[in-house]
Amino acid sequence: MADGTDLLRAWWEQTSLDPRRAGGRTLDWENRPASYKEYPGAARLPLEMPENIPTADLWQALQQRRSRRDLAAAELGREQLALLLWACQGITARLGTQLLRTAPSAGALYPFETYVSLQRVAGLSPCLTHLHIPGFHLEVLTEGEFGPHLAHAALGQEFVADAAAVVVWTAVLPRCTWKYGPRALRYLGLDLGHVGQNLALAAAALGLSCCPVAAFLDRELNAVLEVDGTNEFAYYLAAVGPAPRGRSPEPATR
Ligand SMILES: Cc1cc2nc3c(=O)[nH]c(=O)nc-3n(C[C@H](O)[C@H](O)[C@H](O)COP(=O)(O)O)c2cc1C
Repeated sequence: MADGTDLLRAWWEQTSLDPRRAGGRTLDWENRPASYKEYPGAARLPLEMPENIPTADLWQALQQRRSRRDLAAAELGREQLALLLWACQGITARLGTQLLRTAPSAGALYPFETYVSLQRVAGLSPCLTHLHIPGFHLEVLTEGEFGPHLAHAALGQEFVADAAAVVVWTAVLPRCTWKYGPRALRYLGLDLGHVGQNLALAAAALGLSCCPVAAFLDRELNAVLEVDGTNEFAYYLAAVGPAPRGRSPEPATR
């Protein structure tokens, strides 16, 4: 079929667990890929969490969550930024050496990295950053405005440039194929779906606009992030920021 269904069926079949293939994998512990990425030497931006995690009504957040592309020219607060990123990948428990997070992940492998383009955050100049997982701080990769580059890579979706911050997730395949082989890609999308929904619900709870984006030019976005496109590649992004005051959520149109 020209629409790609055949290709996907073949992939689904080949990545299906069946008794002939299940359980046959031995884990090569000596060559286990690193669990998270670090940029030694990068300047650090602390993420300033409030003293207490705020309370919010989950049911209200579920009711209010909408993909909103209307973003005000206002700044995102530092605490808001911290809370949004904590909702994505905050550490909530430790199991031996494993750092368990706010979102579930198959095998607790977390085969993705989180980059954040700060575009209008209180007291911070625009820059591209990377979330350091155990330290819960941002590592500054490059100073400057990344919104227009990200929007261009996202097929010209202007709200990506207008957002106060854009979170970009990359997939780090070897971290997951190490355990799950070709089935890893199934899990990756599921893992990032959980993370994206955490961000969307946290944004709703904070009264912010948030819109997920998966329509982008892969190579162009990989180049913006300076990732190799093979072992690590762009997978998903979300634009987030203050919502225009007094405007009710726009209906879903896309
Ligand atoms: C995986 C995924 C990719 C998406 N990509 C885009 C996108 O590139 N641009 C966009 O404007 N919205 C995008 N959206 C948002 C959807 O259009 C939106 O979720 C849908 O219209 C339903 O509306 P709601 O989220 O407000 O309920 C995406 C949503 C998901 C889950």
